[in-house]
Amino acid sequence: MLRPDYPIVTKRLRLRPLALGDLEDVYAYSSLEDVCRYIPYAPRTRDDVRRFLTDGKRTRSTLEDEGQVLAVAIELPGTGVIGDLVLFWRSKEHRSGEIGWVQSPAYGARGYATEAARALLGLAFADLHLHRVTARVDARNEPSARMCRRLGMRQEAHLVENEWFKGEWSSELGFAILDREWERSRP
Ligand SMILES: CC(C)(COP(=O)(O)OP(=O)(O)OC[C@H]1O[C@@H](n2cnc3c(N)ncnc32)[C@H](O)[C@@H]1OP(=O)(O)O)[C@@H](O)C(=O)NCCC(=O)NCCS
Repeated sequence: MLRPDYPIVTKRLRLRPLALGDLEDVYAYSSLEDVCRYIPYAPRTRDDVRRFLTDGKRTRSTLEDEGQVLAVAIELPGTGVIGDLVLFWRSKEHRSGEIGWVQSPAYGARGYATEAARALLGLAFADLHLHRVTARVDARNEPSARMCRRLGMRQEAHLVENEWFKGEWSSELGFAILDREWERSRP
């Protein structure tokens, strides 16, 4: 079970549950073609974002059981929501989860997404007691693969043309990190 004590405060950011009041901020990045290129949804309209933000299953702020997904807003204090993160609880028995991220390009290349993902990984291991966290990345998505590596994740797979994705075959990189590897990577 994961019930974070919100907001989760990092050096420069606050992670907190997504709310309907975040509609314009979330729309600003999730409506962009480039942002959605390698994520499994089309650029979102305002109505799509409203449906997302009011869908309790996709914007859970706690994880009570396997099969659920937690979503958190990445808030830059004084600016607003600049991205969001997801953590899927894949299996209770195998203590496994999967992490995902999206960030506004207007706030990219400053380490914000990595800082936010580190905080969520920390909770996944320390509070949800996961043994292994994975990330699935389109092989063409170099910024995301670099982010996995910055987080200390190991590339374990390169699945060649394993998915018919947005009208073409796409290959997938599989990344993972274990609890003991995470512990060792802590300063
Ligand atoms: C994946 C994604 C979040 C990465 O964004 P990003 O801006 O590269 O990541 P960060 O915010 O952590 O910034 C890290 C970059 O800033 C640089 N940087 C600058 N200042 C920094 C600082 N103070 N601390 C850390 N990194 C810093 C890093 O060197 C790094 O650049 P590099 O990858 O060229 O070496 C972003 O590309 C994105 O949202 N893509 C669209 C959605 C998507 O594809 N999601 C993933 C699906 S699997």
